Amino acid sequence: MHFIVLGSAAGGGLPQWNCNCRNCVDARNDHPDVLKRTQSSLAVSADGMSWVVLNASPDIGVQISRTKSLWPNAEKGVRHSPIEAVVLTNSDVDHVAGLLTLRERQPLRLFAHAKTIETLKQNPIFNVLDHECVMRHAVRTDTWFDPLQTSDLRMRLFEVPGKVPLYQETAETLASSGTRTGDTVGVEIVADSEKRAHYIPGCAAVDDLLLEQLAGSQLLFFDGTLYEDGEMQEQDLSQKTGSRMGHISMSGPDGAIDALRSAGIGRRIFVHMNNSNPALRRGSAEQQAVLDAGWEIAYDGMALSL
Ligand code: MLT
Ligand code: MN
Ligand code: ZN
Repeated sequence: MHFIVLGSAAGGGLPQWNCNCRNCVDARNDHPDVLKRTQSSLAVSADGMSWVVLNASPDIGVQISRTKSLWPNAEKGVRHSPIEAVVLTNSDVDHVAGLLTLRERQPLRLFAHAKTIETLKQNPIFNVLDHECVMRHAVRTDTWFDPLQTSDLRMRLFEVPGKVPLYQETAETLASSGTRTGDTVGVEIVADSEKRAHYIPGCAAVDDLLLEQLAGSQLLFFDGTLYEDGEMQEQDLSQKTGSRMGHISMSGPDGAIDALRSAGIGRRIFVHMNNSNPALRRGSAEQQAVLDAGWEIAYDGMALSL
């Protein structure tokens, strides 16, 4: 099973177009300690030929251009793409806007929780993906599906603590924020029946149910949005905390590092990092703490196999 991190940043990317935080300034100026990063997406394949893209980021055009495995294969005709399916973990802008780039009548299978499929339906701009070639599948959680229809790769969605996308927030949705509402899911990915990975780019908390679901995972890509819950406030970037945004932090007593320390997971990799995250800076104490805890920090183009 092969993986390519197409984009390792959270919404906005690094640098973010309107941001003068320390990381964004340095990334913009090609400082060697702060890599540029595009928005959140992961490509998965069993054979290296047919690929599933997990989340379609607004940067998908650039991501495909720099990823040879995702280029159209000349032997397959004038119109072709190795991307045969897209799986969405929520309907946040950074995870669905790239669908608009995948128009041009290319056959594609789209899989997501019924809530995400409904959100796409409510936004008629997504009808540029002609229903004749782009089949939308609302998949039930905890039910296996075969995105490439080859039986090589099977996936399963499971609800994780989260919230509705920013543009659907109301007083009512805020009350249920951080609970399992189906608005945010993780993906379990299995190949050859014994290789097992999990992709969870957004998650508000690690609770007992999630620990149970992740036990024995060989490879985990997990929400690394913020290092500390209040870092955006501290840097005068936003009034919002990580928990208000439905994102657990890397550090702290309730953070991902501590919560997943004894979960029996093989390789642990943070994805979906916000540009404010100090762990993105090479040589920072925060980055060292993440690495010392046995985690890796994904970067754009990171390729690995299981
Ligand atoms: C998130 O991950 O919290 C969202 O992508 C934020 C957003 O929609 O800008
Ligand atoms: Mn996001
Ligand atoms: Zn910034």
